[in-house]
Amino acid sequence: MSSGYFDAIIIGAGGAGMMCAIHAARRGRKVALLDHSQRIGRKILISGGGRCNFTNIHASPSAFVSRNPHFCKSALSRFKPDDFIDMVEAHRIPYHEKKLGQLFCDDSAQQIVDLLVSECERAGAHFILGCEVLEVKKDHKFYLKTSQDDISCDSLVVATGGLSIPKIGATGFGYRIAKQFDLAVIEPLPALVGLNFGKPEIDHLSELAGVSADTIVSCNDASFRENILFTHTGLSGPAILQASLYWNPGDPIYINLLPDVDVDSWLKMLREAGEKSTLKSLLTIDLPRRLAEKFAERYLPPQPVAELSDKKIELAAEKLQSWRIVPSGSPGYVKAEVTRGGIDTDELSSKTMECKKVSGLYFIGEVVDVTGQLGGYNFQWAWASGFAAGQYV
Ligand code: FDA
Repeated sequence: MSSGYFDAIIIGAGGAGMMCAIHAARRGRKVALLDHSQRIGRKILISGGGRCNFTNIHASPSAFVSRNPHFCKSALSRFKPDDFIDMVEAHRIPYHEKKLGQLFCDDSAQQIVDLLVSECERAGAHFILGCEVLEVKKDHKFYLKTSQDDISCDSLVVATGGLSIPKIGATGFGYRIAKQFDLAVIEPLPALVGLNFGKPEIDHLSELAGVSADTIVSCNDASFRENILFTHTGLSGPAILQASLYWNPGDPIYINLLPDVDVDSWLKMLREAGEKSTLKSLLTIDLPRRLAEKFAERYLPPQPVAELSDKKIELAAEKLQSWRIVPSGSPGYVKAEVTRGGIDTDELSSKTMECKKVSGLYFIGEVVDVTGQLGGYNFQWAWASGFAAGQYV
């Protein structure tokens, strides 16, 4: 139980909240870190398949989506991947680069939670766990009515994350506070999530569940070369998760199933050479057999390549290299790694994360309209935005 006054109360003991607490408490501020959960950093624990992809050495603003793409630049430039790597090394946590600059713990995400908790404690931040915030009021200070004691503070930091994975404690608390203080919110949407097939594909392709392929997936000017994975309801895998960050309901995505081949030229060359095989059998060389067969049966001409007209070759090439799908939706927040959208960055100072129109109120981490691609970028934003606010609260 805790009562009384704090210089800063941070609601949400996730990555952003703990980083903010460390830096504010190091400055000698009296800091409380409040969470409705009894268990700290649960998202960190489940991240990166239990090994936490804690940063990306290539983290740059271009890997983030926000209505204002410039907003994240200031915080990201003041707390870089190397700054977090220094903390990881100081705590002797072994790590490795998996691919594409993604750094993971060798052993367990628990080590990242332990690092953050021990730095919070060493700096003197005070944890208040299992505590619900029932009401927030403000005059010259903030007053919090909670399920434990009533507490007050000069600076209130909202670090409650997005809506993803409700079963481990995600709530819309941040958006409710924004509403209370009349702050604009960019519509939250599930992101870094699989996409469901629409009617045309679901009937034919759901039996491909479990098949994966190396592809390029494009959506609204963003393209990713990684695996796709067929599921019972649609597509998943890293390339689809990345594309989902750029996808809005109704938008098509385009899949290049043969990213290393110029299919049009290849087929025309084979035709000139009198190739007797069909596309269905030829495709099994480059694609998993089940995918090659199903795709060819559904979308490609059945004749031997030698008999294909220019028009048929061009259509086949287009289907294989720019397969257009309009997803019907996504599995939603139960599966989404992040929530896109959030507190409109126009409401916040990019230097401090403080609201321009409510002095003393700060938003950091995923609750803000800054969302990173898959690959350690979202933690880097959590660390960087937490660090930024930690200098001022
Ligand atoms: P975060 O959600 O971590 O913390 C919010 C805290 O607020 C929680 O402790 C919650 O209990 C608390 N809270 C919520 N509502 C509250 C309320 N009403 N009252 C009090 N407390 C409340 N990113 C990455 O960079 N690398 C990775 O490997 C992964 N992997 C990954 C896997 C999976 C399965 C998911 C779901 C997500 C990832 N992510 C990721 C994304 C990453 O986990 C996420 O972006 C950050 O944890 C966001 O940090 P925050 O501190 O902003 O919120």
